[in-house]
Amino acid sequence: MSDFYSREIDTTKPSAARLYDYYLGGTHNYPVDRAFAERIRDICPFAWDMARDNRDFLRRAVRFALGNGIRQFIDIGSGVPTVGNVHEAAHQIAPETRVVYVDNDTEAVVTSQDMLRDSTVATAIPGDLRHPDTILDHPRTARLIDFDRPVGLLIVAVFHFVSPRDNPRALLRSYLDRLAPGSYLALSHAAVDEATPLAREQYLNLEREYGSTSNPVYVRRRDEFTELFDGLDIVEPGVVYATDWRNVQPVDPHSPGRPCLYAAVGRKP
Ligand SMILES: C[S@@+](CC[C@H](N)C(=O)[O-])C[C@H]1O[C@@H](n2cnc3c(N)ncnc32)[C@H](O)[C@@H]1O
Repeated sequence: MSDFYSREIDTTKPSAARLYDYYLGGTHNYPVDRAFAERIRDICPFAWDMARDNRDFLRRAVRFALGNGIRQFIDIGSGVPTVGNVHEAAHQIAPETRVVYVDNDTEAVVTSQDMLRDSTVATAIPGDLRHPDTILDHPRTARLIDFDRPVGLLIVAVFHFVSPRDNPRALLRSYLDRLAPGSYLALSHAAVDEATPLAREQYLNLEREYGSTSNPVYVRRRDEFTELFDGLDIVEPGVVYATDWRNVQPVDPHSPGRPCLYAAVGRKP
């Protein structure tokens, strides 16, 4: 498969990757993203906290997987490499850890590739979560990932961009079927079923706004999120809010965004 793809960035429409970068304080975003993000601040003030809470969950999940012997990660929907990326968190503990970043956003892939140009253990490829073979069979994936050994598959704050029409459970199954026993799947996902009425309304307003971007959001209920782990053993503490997943820091139980992001990690038996 050719490594050739358009490095052209569409700056006329906000993108999820660049918005998330802006929420996290990054600089890989454009006026169209910043204007949209500021509108989101009015519509759904806790969206920014959610981005930080999500990123913290991602890092805890990576450390958990490393603690269980994982030394290779595929991070799909990895985003712009804003501070504290997966390879940075992993290499603090195990510098030999291999990481393949995947995103369908040009800015995210281009900046990741530029950052990783000299790395022999981490790379970034363009790819769409909805086309597993193009990701798993990509030559750069094949170069870094040994599919005979367990892998940490990270699909964090991305699956809510997958429409119910894309058959989410079958899609995940196509990934998991290729992974060795002992592999881990980490997911976080937008939700509103346990939010307060006000937070629910605010989040649904955000969802409507994202409908105009290249990344519409589809919230899922707790049971729908849990079903995504079919065939896996969900590790403790189970399906919880992202803020609460193995977090030793104090959590504000009344924070409106807390119930708007489910998280869990499953192990392939
Ligand atoms: C909210 S960010 C999450 C970034 C990172 N996973 C994290 O949790 O910190 C969502 C990312 O998913 C990417 N994305 C959305 N739909 C995608 C798809 N179908 N395939 C690959 N990436 C996708 C966006 O471009 C964006 O970079």
